[in-house]
Amino acid sequence: MSPSLVPEPVLPSPQSILDDIHARFQLGYYYHSSDQIALTSLTQVFVKEFAQGLEKYGEDMAMVPTYVTGVPDGSETGTFLSLDLGGTNLRVCQVTLLGNKSSTSSLNDIHTLSPSPSNRGGEFELRQQKYKVSETLKGGEASVLFDYLADSVDAFLTMHPPESPSPEMHLSASETEIGHGSAAIPLGLTFSFPVSQTSLDSGEILTWTKGFSAKNAIGKDVVRLLQDAFDRKHIHVKCVALVNDTVGALLSRAYTSGGCILGAIFGTGTNGAYVEKISRIPKLQEQRQAQGKGASRGKQEEEGEYMVVNTEWGAFNNSRTHLPTTPYDATLDRTSINPRFQAFEKFISGMYLGELTRIVLVSLIDAFPYSSSNAVLFKGKVTPTLNTQWGLDTSVLSEIEVAWAEGVGGRAEVVLEHDNPVPNWESLTALQASHISSDANTQDKRLLTRLERVRQVVVSKLGYEDGDVGLRDAAILRWASHLIARRAALLSGVAVAAVLVQTGRAGYIADSHSHINNEYPKDEKIGVGVDGSLIQFYPHFETHMRSSLRTVVGREVEERVVIGLAKDGSGVGAALCALQALKQGVV
Ligand code: GLC
Repeated sequence: MSPSLVPEPVLPSPQSILDDIHARFQLGYYYHSSDQIALTSLTQVFVKEFAQGLEKYGEDMAMVPTYVTGVPDGSETGTFLSLDLGGTNLRVCQVTLLGNKSSTSSLNDIHTLSPSPSNRGGEFELRQQKYKVSETLKGGEASVLFDYLADSVDAFLTMHPPESPSPEMHLSASETEIGHGSAAIPLGLTFSFPVSQTSLDSGEILTWTKGFSAKNAIGKDVVRLLQDAFDRKHIHVKCVALVNDTVGALLSRAYTSGGCILGAIFGTGTNGAYVEKISRIPKLQEQRQAQGKGASRGKQEEEGEYMVVNTEWGAFNNSRTHLPTTPYDATLDRTSINPRFQAFEKFISGMYLGELTRIVLVSLIDAFPYSSSNAVLFKGKVTPTLNTQWGLDTSVLSEIEVAWAEGVGGRAEVVLEHDNPVPNWESLTALQASHISSDANTQDKRLLTRLERVRQVVVSKLGYEDGDVGLRDAAILRWASHLIARRAALLSGVAVAAVLVQTGRAGYIADSHSHINNEYPKDEKIGVGVDGSLIQFYPHFETHMRSSLRTVVGREVEERVVIGLAKDGSGVGAALCALQALKQGVV
């Protein structure tokens, strides 16, 4: 064959590669329909999985009964220690609940369900210290991890000795196994992993999430593991309550705003806890019957009609029958330490969004391997940051968004840019080649300034040489960050919508027959307490989340949802549970 007959490879165009990625990150793509149909279908599947988890133990969505049978109303008082494990850092806090100034009661009953966020809330003071949890501790022996927790509490108490302990702060020596003539300090533990809770102060670890994998912990009682560590070290602290961070968010928001029905975390991981009717938790009744405790109505009324349920929604649709899984999501899952688990969390949370973006970017770099002239991104070069699993932190995506927004009418303008069109290869290539000339129009100049700002973030955070990153690359990075974060926020809205439907506060706007429970006043404000780095700091996360919520349940309901930061939710929530435990005589 003469050399002239050897066929040239036919390469896809860069534009078609970008178009394909863009399409796959639209929710409607997998449903061959609109975003509205996709979001509504996902909410329906969510509600179905809620029901399965409430029915039986061992389902993907664990729907953990927490034994918290009401929400506080802001009048509670007392000083407590709390320990919080589950996010990026470990935190030890001393929380002083001051109650609401107009109230005279102390140790008020936690059994009131008070869903109106308009009430006057309680106040608190908090002292805290953060400690780093190394990768070695996350993956080593559980006893070493729990020793570290105990040591951190000890270090905190050395730095901040309780000055004037309130009567609640100390247990009498006779109430503890560890007191040697001195009293033990009660502590609430916020443990933000799936736990099968058996009472307010005990629960077996079901599985690790968020990159933890400590050995010899699964199936063990987490309160026991911690207490053993305190006892081994003769630290006079007694763990009296166990709480998930979502429950903490719910309780603390209820405490400060006077009412809340859902506590949700959108941070390193994602999860939600909501107030459910005990009569709608069949597995709890069966368990009680099996334990010979009976499940009569009388018993329910005696214990209150409601219980907070920790959904563990990070595990929604682990079977991935409905989640819009792209090949990039599949790579992320396969290479994670828990493939096939926490499917929903892997679409949404801060632990994964940076990694997902990294995988997309590497696929663009590799689109035409070894050919810098055809390269789609960064002249076909990678850096150690991009070439390392977990190398790209979600905070970089956030910085890119901020750089894009700054100084050009600011936030309000960017909020309107919902559509995030797919980058136009030709015009960006032309833009990149041009220089800002004095006759460029204002719009072009503005675009160039914004892209240049993004470019600088990319150079510094991804570790590139200045000459390897062009304005076209900057535009692609900003588009990819937005694409991935927007999908995360829309899916987050689905989880919130599912809770509203589950509790009868909303129906599907696309289905005029769906049922709204009329026991709630039509103008009821619906309190949602949130915490986590994404919802707090990622630009426009809440805006996109709300637009998804509106798409599913309609504007009228969405506008009644009051989303508020559950400030220091883990600490305050654990303190409220410790108070509850003392009142119930747990210790
Ligand atoms: C993970 C944990 C869950 C926690 C959430 C947010 O999903 O399994 O318990 O609430 O992260 O921190």
